[in-house]
Amino acid sequence: MKSLLCILATIMVVGGLRLPGTPPPSAPPTYDYIIAGGGLAGSLLANRLSADPSKSVLLLEAGGADFENKFIKIPAGILRLFKSGFDWQHETSGEHNCSGRNIFLARGKVLGGSSCTNVLLHHRGTAADYDNWNVPSWGASDLLPYFKRTQGDLTGRAETNPAHHSTGGEWSMSEVRYQNPLSKRFLEVAGDQLGVNPDFNDWSSPQTGAGPFPVSERNGRRESGATAFLKPVLSRDNLTVRTGAMVRRIDWEGSTATGVTYDGGEGGVGDGLKAELRQGGEVICTAGAIASPQLLMASGVGPREHLEEFNIPVISDLPGVGRNLQDHPAAVVSFSTPKKGVSVTSKLRIRGTKLTNPLPILKWLFTRRGLLTSVGCDNGAFVKTDESKEQADLQIRFLAARALGPDGMTTFTQFRNTRNHGDGYSFQAVATRARSSGRVRLASSNTNVKPVIDGGYLSDERDLDTLRNGLKLGRELGSKFGEYVGEEVFPGKACATDEQLNKYIRDTLHTANALTGSCRMGTGADAVVDPDLKVRGVTGVRVCDSSIFPSIPGGQTGTPTVMVAERAADFIINPEKAPSKMVNEVGGGVEQREVVGV
Ligand SMILES: Cc1cc2nc3c(=O)[nH]c(=O)nc-3n(C[C@H](O)[C@H](O)[C@H](O)COP(=O)(O)OP(=O)(O)OC[C@H]3O[C@@H](n4cnc5c(N)ncnc54)[C@H](O)[C@@H]3O)c2cc1C
Ligand SMILES: *[C@@H]1O[C@H](CO)[C@@H](O)[C@H](O)[C@H]1NC(C)=O
Ligand SMILES: *[C@@H]1O[C@H](CO)[C@@H](O)[C@H](O)[C@H]1NC(C)=O
Repeated sequence: MKSLLCILATIMVVGGLRLPGTPPPSAPPTYDYIIAGGGLAGSLLANRLSADPSKSVLLLEAGGADFENKFIKIPAGILRLFKSGFDWQHETSGEHNCSGRNIFLARGKVLGGSSCTNVLLHHRGTAADYDNWNVPSWGASDLLPYFKRTQGDLTGRAETNPAHHSTGGEWSMSEVRYQNPLSKRFLEVAGDQLGVNPDFNDWSSPQTGAGPFPVSERNGRRESGATAFLKPVLSRDNLTVRTGAMVRRIDWEGSTATGVTYDGGEGGVGDGLKAELRQGGEVICTAGAIASPQLLMASGVGPREHLEEFNIPVISDLPGVGRNLQDHPAAVVSFSTPKKGVSVTSKLRIRGTKLTNPLPILKWLFTRRGLLTSVGCDNGAFVKTDESKEQADLQIRFLAARALGPDGMTTFTQFRNTRNHGDGYSFQAVATRARSSGRVRLASSNTNVKPVIDGGYLSDERDLDTLRNGLKLGRELGSKFGEYVGEEVFPGKACATDEQLNKYIRDTLHTANALTGSCRMGTGADAVVDPDLKVRGVTGVRVCDSSIFPSIPGGQTGTPTVMVAERAADFIINPEKAPSKMVNEVGGGVEQREVVGV
């Protein structure tokens, strides 16, 4: 009887007859904010924008919800994450200046995004990095308060240096609770030669020097965007989080966003689903430096002639979308050592097997300390390869492990399949203020098809110089390791002249995973978003992630992304704090700070 009534009701509803008192079954819910991409920036924005119970927020994330998977939460678990289901596994196509190779680009695909799969280094870059952005109201002094607002310092620095550190935020900063004997040797040798830097995030002293790098960990566990910002607010009524939801495009009425179309949703709900904005609502793109420009282009925002190739109706002709893609290119020097069992790779294994040594696991489980709190490259240095440089152009990341291949990524992905991983140590040279840039282009109007990425690596020769000098420095430091010194495995002694080193770099260059800049913020013709992060030429869309950086900061890019998202949330919630307004209040600031010709 009940089921008969049900069927009858269904027929009536489908037929357009609604039973009195029954709400329309398919009236789509509407939102004040639709956040496209639940990565590092998206997690923070979901938190801040849903704090006001009068606002309704939808977060759409293509990946799953398993941000507390053991390989994600245990820092050393990163060895299992590259090329896993948590990774988009992008690659570039035929790098012109890197022997025509395709370069692998890891990107996180899970709530928390790349902050769930990254190596956790917690760097802000320098004050000069932001002053050099030359965007009104986005200088270092404007931004330091936002770095501090998000920071949850666990190192004690907030107490001794409250001007630069704070304990008030969720974005944890701590020190790795493990030190390898080889890392100790590195800190001695590099400290002697390059000076010691006790705090890479203190803007009152130079960034150069060697030291342990701070990390985004809390109590020996990974701090991701999801654990820091999302998990604490998942129960809010006005925040809807949908995982497995791939945003296909922004929908428009004229050039005003009305919502988005997406595929999937929890339990594979369906394709071509709509989420709609309320009057005055906004779509906020936080899909990262590859997918944010891809989504804009698929939605009709980008270079006209490129969009027309795919018959995408042009909503705003913005040639800058997808351009200015920047990254941190890297090359490796690796040594073997005659000392057995000293490298982290040996300590992780039961000798001669692929089995994990239970001791570090037990130590982590019971004390949240030891080897598993390390991501491998948590000691290093920032260096000016030439004293005339204004800022460090080189970051050295030290690894207490011998490389299995010269391209960095190989070591990470092959370790799980290698039985006898010889002992050794490595230096990864990173061009930390790289000048080269590439671009993201569509392969299809369908965002489910991976875009075409030209990394543009080494298109500016200065990056090659930095890496070559970095390899030389790595060799020099490595030869001072005393009783640990073994043979140079990569590039190897035979690679001696500058020309040979250049070839080695072109043949082995890989990335330190810092993609940024492909929806650059600015005031000039190349800008995709204005200083309020609003997409030019349309209404109701902002980009608020790592793709808006006008130029790449020196250091890693996660913490600067958190800063950008925090700043954006603040002026989205409080429009009177928008950079455009701030500048006008200061009086003529635009003219004073704008750079001619940008
Ligand atoms: C291997 C690796 C190591 C790194 N090491 C460090 C480090 O040590 N320190 C550091 O600070 N930074 C590091 N980074 C960089 C840092 O993680 C990123 O800069 C940061 O996560 C960027 O934040 P985001 O919000 O812009 O993008 P992401 O965090 O990548 O988030 C983008 C999100 O959007 C989702 N998405 C994409 N397309 C769609 C779509 N169409 N629909 C719905 N969702 C979509 C993705 O699944 C993802 O969750 C590393 C990155 C990687 C990959
Ligand atoms: C927020 O949630 C409450 C409780 O579920 C609901 O009554 C209210 O309508 C929601 N507000 C918005 C703006 O969606
Ligand atoms: C990079 O490659 C392009 C195309 O082969 C070439 O024209 C250019 O000179 C190269 N640039 C550098 C810096 O090597």
